[in-house]
This record gives sequence, structure tokens and C-alpha cells, in this order.
Amino acid sequence: MKNDEKSPAINRVDGRLKVTGGAKYFAEFEIPGTTYCVLVTSTIARGSIASMETKKAEGAPGVLAVFTNLNLPKIPGLNTPEGNNAKKPSGGETYRMLTDKKILFAGQPIAMVIADTLERAQYAATLVKTTYSKQPHQTDLEKHKAKGVMPQGERNADYKRGNPDTYKTAPVVLEASYTLPIEVHNPMELHGILVNWTADDQVMIYAKTQGVQMTQKAVAKAFKLDEKNVHVHTEFMGGGFGMGLKTWPQEIAVVAAAKKLRKPVKLVVSRDQMFTMVGHRPYTTQTISMGADKAGKLVGIVHEATAETASYEDFTESTVGMTKFIYNCPNVSTTYRIVPLDRGVPIWMRGPGEATGAFALESAMDEMAAKLNLDPIEFRLRNYAETDPEKNRPFSSKHLKEAYQLGADKIGWSKRKNEPGALRDGEWLIGYGMSSGTFNASRGQASAKVILNQDGSLVIQSAVTDIGPGTGTAMVSIAHDVLGIPVGRIKFEMGDTTLPKAPTQGGSTITSTVGSAVYDTCAALKTSLAALAIAQGNSPFSGSKAEDLVFEDGMIQLKGDRKKKLPVGDVLKANNLLTLDRALDSKGGPEQETYSMYSFSVHFAEVRVNPITGVVRVSNAVSVADSGRIVSPKTAASQMIGGVTGGIGMALTEEAVLDHRFGRLVNNNLADYHVPVSADVPHIDTIFIDKPDPYINPMGAKGMGEIALIGFAAAVANAVYNATGQRIRDLPITPDKVI
Ligand code: MOS
Repeated sequence: MKNDEKSPAINRVDGRLKVTGGAKYFAEFEIPGTTYCVLVTSTIARGSIASMETKKAEGAPGVLAVFTNLNLPKIPGLNTPEGNNAKKPSGGETYRMLTDKKILFAGQPIAMVIADTLERAQYAATLVKTTYSKQPHQTDLEKHKAKGVMPQGERNADYKRGNPDTYKTAPVVLEASYTLPIEVHNPMELHGILVNWTADDQVMIYAKTQGVQMTQKAVAKAFKLDEKNVHVHTEFMGGGFGMGLKTWPQEIAVVAAAKKLRKPVKLVVSRDQMFTMVGHRPYTTQTISMGADKAGKLVGIVHEATAETASYEDFTESTVGMTKFIYNCPNVSTTYRIVPLDRGVPIWMRGPGEATGAFALESAMDEMAAKLNLDPIEFRLRNYAETDPEKNRPFSSKHLKEAYQLGADKIGWSKRKNEPGALRDGEWLIGYGMSSGTFNASRGQASAKVILNQDGSLVIQSAVTDIGPGTGTAMVSIAHDVLGIPVGRIKFEMGDTTLPKAPTQGGSTITSTVGSAVYDTCAALKTSLAALAIAQGNSPFSGSKAEDLVFEDGMIQLKGDRKKKLPVGDVLKANNLLTLDRALDSKGGPEQETYSMYSFSVHFAEVRVNPITGVVRVSNAVSVADSGRIVSPKTAASQMIGGVTGGIGMALTEEAVLDHRFGRLVNNNLADYHVPVSADVPHIDTIFIDKPDPYINPMGAKGMGEIALIGFAAAVANAVYNATGQRIRDLPITPDKVI
């Protein structure tokens, strides 16, 4: 593959399966004798269980068991819920399900009812009666901000370069606070697990997980099993967005229940439980203080963020990360604090940390540009970081300037007036806003196996799970690029613990990490094939060198004399091989540390605001991604459209509302928690710089799942300011805030 070649725009390899019902999701696997689990949850936010009446439920038709903290079998290897990212906070306790009477958050599972049908389990669950001894709870971050603690870990430590307070004496100064509400992932597919113990020490699991091998490890550790005896399968997932990045306590509890009952048990959590027991984007408040000189050069930035976590576990994300390196500013400091609340623990949600941070930073950049009377793009260009000012090393690649230009041209930025409220269409005010985004890019470790058959077909294997972006399509595209085998003849097998080791899908790393493993493995196969083809009897290539061979259209051809050719499968036949395979473990090298590796994005939004009703419509959107070489253009574009759609939700509609009197959510359903629907989403233009990163991996591909979302909400907020002159710093931008 040459760097200037584009990948073919192939269709989703699993598209047909997904739209015809051929794709099987975890809850659809049928195991004879499956029983159904329904969770009973706490209605209070803090305290303990005083009494629980389970007799009626136990006696209800079809009920096999009701498990509570009194009778759930002990889980032998359980110290901390596996897969959790963090240590216990000082003074905190780690949440383990049904192990004691304590109530740590509203919506905490307190009983599991298992019956022979789902309906019987649902009915019996209504018969469980609980009384509590309540304790005062704290769920309001705004009230408890002062209790913020600096989380452990280098990444979370206070950061400082130069003398950040210099901003205070700059000619132009901004100090502003921004809030991001609780957001929940809400993929279409509900969370859950289907567990079948096939022997005393062997278990088969179908689960909603972003990493089958992560779930395998967690279960093996909790039940003290050999990892190879824990088989986890998740080939298809109906959206993840981060909620499947760890193994949740209820999953472990279901494994325990199934073991005790010696029956397969299936749990599918309800939609309202999706809001409370599988994580969320944490409520976060931020303050940005910024100073610039009259020429529009940044003098100092101080970025302080405070986010919620659970009382029993630390959750952290890189909320202030981008501020350290995205602009060339000599004086910068960041602080990040977390406040333990009586809430379920948050988890990463698409664009974790940076999406929250970018809303504040990129809104502030827009505010400063307005104060300086500068075009927001011009202001960013005057502070453009050519090299990484945080780590003092070069970026592996950065084409943000080109991205600004391409996006500006596409949205028609020249129509924008710098003074707000200047554009109108009837009663609608029109505004334009933009924002930058960035997310870490890197190449981790993964394995892959490729198997070539005599008929010229190729099978690629990796344990990776596809949470939706089209991983299989990207992998097929990479293999096609290396081996020249037609895409229709390549099959990608994935999502199963018996396959070669792969990381959990998350953090925009899979194309880079697993893609590189696939690339390297295909390259090794190609080397073997070339050697065999040259050496075999009657070879049309005898005397040629491997580099003289071209792999194209399922054939090996001689460069310069394309009539000399062999189908790849014929090489196997000539050498009496049924198959030829290669398996490799592969990872990045020292370049991963020599360079700062980031993907970048630029988002543009055109909004129409009705000053009478306060309604904001995003009427046009353009997103430009600098994510290196695009290996699968169609799925990449879809991923970008999905990210922008999430960004519209973040900007305008998404907010999980707590009633702090009870410490409970009031809109834990999809009627009241608004995710954007088709009518909310305009045509979205996606543009890719599509220039290979020279260092990150052999494809030159950086990640792009997160940058599709990161920054978009700020672009909308900035557009609303441009339309109305109103600066809205608290998301979402609902009509009541606009009028
Ligand atoms: Mo994502 S938050 O990396 O699933």
C-alpha cells in the first residue's frame, strides 16, 4: 500500500446481517432451559436495608429463586468489581452487589428475581417489599464542590507551565464557568448478560461488553477459574458508547446465580435501569480563565474542572487534557477534582473527558475572539501549536489548519458576521459557530491470525468486539490493501474469547491497534506466499525477487510482465497446502513516545434560533477530521455522522435530571431524556483530511470515534451566540435559556 493511495470505499461487511436480522445480539442466543432475571432496585440514595419481604415473590408462579444480600452465594475471588478503572477513593468503599445491607445510590440492585419466564420474573419482582433505614444523601455536585479531591494518577495531577496567573494582567481577560449535566449512553440495545455454566468450572457467556476478553478476565478472577474455561461471545453490539467498558456488578451476580441454580440465566436490564446501573457521563463544572494580548496571542489559561464520582469508587477522565497542548500558550495550569456523591459510578462516554473539556475551552476561545473582535478561526490560528507545548515534542501529524480551511469553505463561513444577531431569515436568527476537538491516538498491542484457503479466500481472526463503528469492514479493507484479495473473499471473525488477543474496543484505538496487527500478519503471509510462489516447480516467477511481485485481484503478478501471474490459492495447491496461515502479536515501537499522537477535528454549525420561542435548530453541520489515513471511508463517514448527532444531543437536548430531595433521576426514560431524532439532525457534511500519519502505524491511520463528537457542542453554543448575542454556558441549550 502506498501512502498516496486511497482505500476502496467498501460497503459494511456486516451491513446485510444487521438489516436482515442475521446479526445475533447477546440476548438473542437461545439456550434450552434459560431462566430470566429481573433486578429489584433501591428507591433511596443512601442508608441500608432494614427489612426485605421476599416470601411472596419466592412463592409466585415460576419463580426459581430470589437472591438478596442474605443468600447470594459467596463469590470466591471478588475483592473489587473487576474491570473498574480506579482505586478506592480515600474513605470510600467498593460496591459489590448483594453482599451487604448498604445502599450507596438510588437504583442500586438489591434483589435478583429469577423465574422461568421474563413476565413471571417481572411480576414476582413487584412482590418484593423493602424497608430502609435512610441516611442523608448528597447528590448535588454544586453544593458539595468544596469536597473535591485530586484523584490519584499522574494524568489527574495538577498541571502548570510558566506563570498562569499572568492572564490576570493581560489586556483582554475572560473568566467564565461552564456546566455539563449528567448524560447517559442509551444505546438501542439494553445492557445485560446470558450465562450458562456447562460444567462446575466452565461457563459460557453472551454479554453486552466492549471487550470479551475483559469480561473473561473479570469472571475468571471473581470465580477463580482458568481463563480458558470462561468463554465469552459478543460478535454484535447495538451501540456501546462506553457503557460496556467494564464488567458491572450485576453481571458478576448473574454468573453467581446461574452457578447456584445450575441453569442458564439471562439478564436484560430495563430502560430505566440503563440510567442508573451502567454508568453515565459525570456532571461536571468548569472554570476557564484566560488572558490575551491585543494582537490576539494567548497569555495564560487556567482550566479548573470538578466532576462527580461515586462514594465507593473513583472515576476519572481527561477533562482538562486538551487545554495542556491544543494552543501555543506559555502559561497554562489545569486542576481536576472529583467529588464523591451518593450516585452510581460514572463511566467513559463517547469522547470521555475531552468532550466535556472541549465544551468549556472552545466556548471560552469563542468568547475571547468576540472580546478581541477577531474571527474565531483567526484567533485560533494566532495561537496555533505547531509542536506539542505540553510534552515539548513534535506531533506525529497535525493538519488542523487545513481542516479549519476546508470546513470554513464548506459551511460558507464567509457569510458569518462577527457581530451577533446580524443575520436573519424571517423571524429566525441565523448564526455560525465552530470549534476544535482532539483525542489521544496511539497504537497498542494486539494479535491477529490470517488463514488463506486454496480457493483464494481469506479468514482474519481477532477477539475484538465491534461496538458499532464497523471494525470488521476496516479490517477487511486493511487486509485487502496488503494482500490484494477481493473484499468479497475476505471474512473477519471476531468477538469471541477463543480468537487471538485484542484489547477492549474503546478510546478510538482499535483501527490503529488491531488494524496494525492485521496489517502485520497479512504482510507476513504475503512474504511467505511470495517465497513459495517463487520457489515452486514451474514457477512463472522463478528467479524473481519478492519485491518484484504484485498482489492484486486475488492474483500474484510479476511487475513489468503482468501476464506472468498465479491465483494466490494456486500457490497453496502447488505446495500441497490446504491452508496457509500466520499469527502474530504486534505493537507499536519507540515512535509512540517520540511523538505526540493525536487526532484532531474541526466542527462547524449553522443554527437558526427563534427569538420568540427560544427554539434552536442546527440547520447545517460540517465536521472535518484529521485522523490520518482513512482505511474505510464509508464507515468512517457514518461514524462521524453519529458523533455529530451525539454532539447535537449534548448541545441541545440531553440532560439526566436529578431530584436532589430524593437523590433520584426524574427523567430516566427515552420520552423525557431527549436524544436527537431524525428531525433534529440536518444534513451533515463529513470531510477527511485523509493524510497518513507517518509514524503511528503501518496504515497511517489515527482514531476517529471520539473526535467526531468532541467539540461539537461548543460549535453549537458559539453559533447560538453568533445568532443571538446570548452566551449559554450551561448545557443543554434549551429554549428557556435562550429567551
Ligand atoms: Mo468509548 S467512551 O471509548 O466506548
